[in-house]
Amino acid sequence: MTRVSPAPLIKSGLDPALEPSALTSGARFVRACLRRPVDRTPVWFLRQAGRYMPEYQAVRKHHTLLEICKQPRLAAEVTITAAERLDVDAAIIFADLLLPFECMGLPFEFQAGEGPVVHHPVRTLDDVQRLRTDRASELGYVAEAIERVVAHFKDRLGIIGFCGAPFTLASYMIEGGGSRNYIHTKTLMYRQPAAWGLLLDKLVAVLREYAAQQVAAGADVIQIFDSWAGALSVGDYRDFVLPATKILVREVQALGVPVIYFGVDTASLLPAMRETGADVLGLDWRVPLDEGWRSLDYACAVQGNLDPITLFAEPELIRRRVHQILAQAGGRAGHIFNLGHGIVPGTPVENVQAVVKFVRQYSHPSPAPLIGGARG
Ligand code: CP3
Repeated sequence: MTRVSPAPLIKSGLDPALEPSALTSGARFVRACLRRPVDRTPVWFLRQAGRYMPEYQAVRKHHTLLEICKQPRLAAEVTITAAERLDVDAAIIFADLLLPFECMGLPFEFQAGEGPVVHHPVRTLDDVQRLRTDRASELGYVAEAIERVVAHFKDRLGIIGFCGAPFTLASYMIEGGGSRNYIHTKTLMYRQPAAWGLLLDKLVAVLREYAAQQVAAGADVIQIFDSWAGALSVGDYRDFVLPATKILVREVQALGVPVIYFGVDTASLLPAMRETGADVLGLDWRVPLDEGWRSLDYACAVQGNLDPITLFAEPELIRRRVHQILAQAGGRAGHIFNLGHGIVPGTPVENVQAVVKFVRQYSHPSPAPLIGGARG
């Protein structure tokens, strides 16, 4: 269902009459995505529900990753437990980037220690032509999990739905799993432009519908993960990836929600990524937040960007790093605190909680209302 009314935004406290001092976590998060003033910087974490967390491990002992994803009761429970344990401003639905592959006719599995494996990778125009785009409704279990999370939190927390970006998903389809040099992906991209174009179009068609299901279920924001976009030169990103990604971003925004667009190792790509029109760009930790934001002319919000491995340090160093990132954001409206990439297994939960505490302690109300744009 395509929703163009501003209803979901108002649900999240975006009524312009609302004082920033009276914000719920959900309103604080969504307002920051749209660069509206907030009472303090909102915070959540990439991979906040994952193996570092004993509660997740306990569920995982009895279920595979895909079982958790496909049983809305379990997916909702894992999502809610992580958000409550950390006391963050937003909950990202527990799912996986690769779930849409199945309904496109491309089965995969997670092999212990190896990550995802696609058994019959896509390598030819024929392979691309065989991919189905008419079965996105089979992903309804993710929307059902979102409904449960929304029923639990109501408007209190921001609810984040997500999907992969065309390039990153295409890379898993073509490589058959993770990759170092993306040789098969780039070979298809350079040598079979018709197959590449059709593949990205098909992905956009499925992802648009998948995102629409999530928004209809109550997601306040959609994050689009282009985790491996950093493997591309700026020129290749512009020529082969930006056009399809821009279409997806625009179509998700047309559902009435802000879009966060995230990738890793993207310092040089940021200005091109901004051309997608995403409301928020995720910054990885390699670029200082102030430099990254400046390279975007402050024309969108930013999310990030503590190095996730900092969470293995002493609390005092973590405190200084959090302070430094908030100082770099400079109190501008439109900063969402997060890591530069996901929490890794073995991370002490108390250090993640400490980050939340430090963000609360050091962030302040954003300055005077910024009607019509951010401060330069
Ligand atoms: O709180 C959360 O963020 C959890 C929800 C979530 C998962 N996957 C569950 C998961 C999210 C947002 C994802 C996205 C995802 N999946 C990405 C993009 C995010 C990023 O890191 O940039 C990617 C590239 C994938 C594909 C994927 N899924 C890989 C490469 C792996 C293996 C990683 C590993 O460390 O083994 C997964 C498995 C996966 N998906 C786990 C979780 C919690 C690992 C834990 C498990 O096996 O239970």
